[in-house]
Amino acid sequence: MYTQSFSVPDGTEDVKSVGLKAIPKALNAQDADLQAAFDARIDADGRIEPREWMPEAYRKTLVRQISQHAHSEIVGMLPEGNWVSRAPSLKRKTILIAKVQDEAGHGLYLYSAAETLGTSRDQMLDALHTGKAKYSSIFNYPTLNWADVGVVGWLVDGAAIMNQVPLCRCSYGPYARAMVRVCKEESFHQRQGYEALLVMMQGTAEQKAMVQDAVNRWWWKCLAMFGPPDADSPNSAQGMRWGIKRISNDDLRQKFVDATVPQAKVLGVTLPDPDLKWNEARQAHDYGQIDWDEFWATVNGNGPCNKERLGARVKAWNDGAWVREAALAHAQKQQQRQMKEAA
Ligand code: 3HC
Repeated sequence: MYTQSFSVPDGTEDVKSVGLKAIPKALNAQDADLQAAFDARIDADGRIEPREWMPEAYRKTLVRQISQHAHSEIVGMLPEGNWVSRAPSLKRKTILIAKVQDEAGHGLYLYSAAETLGTSRDQMLDALHTGKAKYSSIFNYPTLNWADVGVVGWLVDGAAIMNQVPLCRCSYGPYARAMVRVCKEESFHQRQGYEALLVMMQGTAEQKAMVQDAVNRWWWKCLAMFGPPDADSPNSAQGMRWGIKRISNDDLRQKFVDATVPQAKVLGVTLPDPDLKWNEARQAHDYGQIDWDEFWATVNGNGPCNKERLGARVKAWNDGAWVREAALAHAQKQQQRQMKEAA
């Protein structure tokens, strides 16, 4: 069901290193100069801005990643939005509403950043609604009880921050700038989730069991969220060469595990991995095998909630048609009025 509408065509002619996707061949002297200037800017760790020349493959890679990221933010509103009407107190409800609204904002910054690359919001949303575009695997799992909402904040948003802080240094200016605010807000999301769980862990035995159960169900999905192992990640080498990605999937996953182990200890939960242990030689935690078959099944449209999530987004788009039409009609009227006044 999921293909990648914005994927960059593979080629061999221009590939300078194994595993890198093709950069279109410079066709003439002017293009060669532009390519050289672009490469020099990337090598100097500089920023690329929307109106500047960039290789088509760089543009497409950014559209692919940024639009997928935007879709993830928007689809990511659904598992938690499900709990707004059932939050256990007014305080928790207001926090959750604020968080879900933040995610909508993140989606909008990211769609705007992608639009600076020459794609339209309609094109991106069409790719999402028709199942051509990917969004994060993690949002295809259900939030079964209130502890899940806390765990999504602690672990899912925690994983998101780990992945997204390096994106503040992405070579493409609009994406990097959007990520600064996104990361600040994600940090609040992570803390509110952790705090909600701390409260539950001081509660009844039943509440503690709910937290442990939610951790058991989400832990491995969060590790998979960082993407396939580096050796199986087709986009990583080129993404890192271009300064879009700064840290590899495996390195980010490792950082996440190492940061989360002490947090789990403070919380009083067990991470569900018998192989998880400190490795003195590596100065990092070893951890067990991720189920990549399950990950790919979910990415390919066959996770527990894929159909429900996509159905909800398509319904929201269709139900909102009258708002878009009314806004357009209003804008046209305003424009006509202004033209009349100016005449
Ligand atoms: N879910 C779905 N697809 C995934 C995935 C995941 N967790 N991880 C990787 N993939 C896909 C990639 O998109 C790629 O498919 P494509 O070539 O058809 O586009 C394929 O698997 C191979 O993966 P690669 O490692 O080669 O791909 P990338 O180099 O693009 O790395 C990434 C994947 C690490 C997700 C990177 O794109 C990235 O950092 N993206 C920006 C951050 C982002 O999108 N995060 C999603 C979560 S957002 C979020 O959680 C919001 C929140 O509020 C909590």
